[in-house]
Amino acid sequence: MNTTPSAVIDRHRRRLGDRLVILAHHYQHDDIVRHADHVGDSLELARKIADLSAEYIVFCGVFFMAETAAILAAPGQKVLIPDASAACVMSDMAPSWLVEAVAGRLHAMGRMATPLTYVNSSARVKAACGRLGGSVCTSANAEVMLSWALGQGHGALFLPDRMLGANTCDRLGIPPEKRHILDIRRHGALIDPKAVLAAEVLLWPGRCVIHDKFTPDRIHAVRQAHPGALVAVHPECPPATVAAADAAGSTSFLIRFVEEAPQGATIFIGTEENLVVRLARRYAGEKTVRPLLSSRCSNMAKITEEKLAAQLADIASQPPVTVPHDVREPARAAVTRMLEVCAKRMDP
Ligand code: 13P
Ligand code: SF4
Repeated sequence: MNTTPSAVIDRHRRRLGDRLVILAHHYQHDDIVRHADHVGDSLELARKIADLSAEYIVFCGVFFMAETAAILAAPGQKVLIPDASAACVMSDMAPSWLVEAVAGRLHAMGRMATPLTYVNSSARVKAACGRLGGSVCTSANAEVMLSWALGQGHGALFLPDRMLGANTCDRLGIPPEKRHILDIRRHGALIDPKAVLAAEVLLWPGRCVIHDKFTPDRIHAVRQAHPGALVAVHPECPPATVAAADAAGSTSFLIRFVEEAPQGATIFIGTEENLVVRLARRYAGEKTVRPLLSSRCSNMAKITEEKLAAQLADIASQPPVTVPHDVREPARAAVTRMLEVCAKRMDP
């Protein structure tokens, strides 16, 4: 009997049949992607959950993604992740106790900003946003959702990614003087009330260490060495990088950008390298696709074929991802609000 992890996964997928669905984020390695029933960006995968009737949903990505699936799953469905220690560094920059402390201070200052959290955040942070009438966004719908939040009439608190927040403000034409990056040191005791009251959008100072590495200098160097090359980056990159690129968007947007680029084009992509390597292979001989820099998410890489095989082999006794009821309900309200707003304001 073939005992390679890949063969073990195939056997258990056959054994479990319709009872199992495997979801994978675009940043997963090919070794995982090849076993997935659905591969997508954060928004696509969150939207998918409602259509799934499988008993087991195995999420290959980082923990907040599996937690979001657990928030949206139907009663009786079990969401699993092959390694629950696959955290997101950016999500960890906004612990719920600190978000609640800062939101409390803003409230005490008379600032009623509608909170909008990037999906890269814990269930507890999503719940805090839900309780305050706020919502969630992904990189694919940040403009739509920030417009929605501002439409509530009190300004917005965008967290945890200050880069996605600033890039989205740029797209919506909200000038820098109407934004304020919060000082969250000492539980928010250093927050400047005047600046907070004057700003339209308050930005939590989180960032992604993977996307921070893509600088405008790197884009200028690439353009010099490869005249005519196209450059597209993820909106978690700094605003100056996004401004220097030809385009910016979610992981699915980047895939479409490569697909729609002319034959023979050279395209540099600024995002996690697993996706770029896959695109380079898919278009080999037609287009040249290269990473803008080598940058990998070590947490995404924690999901391996070995761990997936071990989880499937023992699926009935594996601990599912759980979210306590008092967190799940307000978090679900926040995520559901996002899905409803997107259903109305975005193309399917
Ligand atoms: P997407 O929303 O494009 O899937 O990106 C998620 C992410 O974690 C990017 O670092
Ligand atoms: Fe989080 Fe950055 Fe990894 Fe995305 S690439 S999961 S934002 S650490």
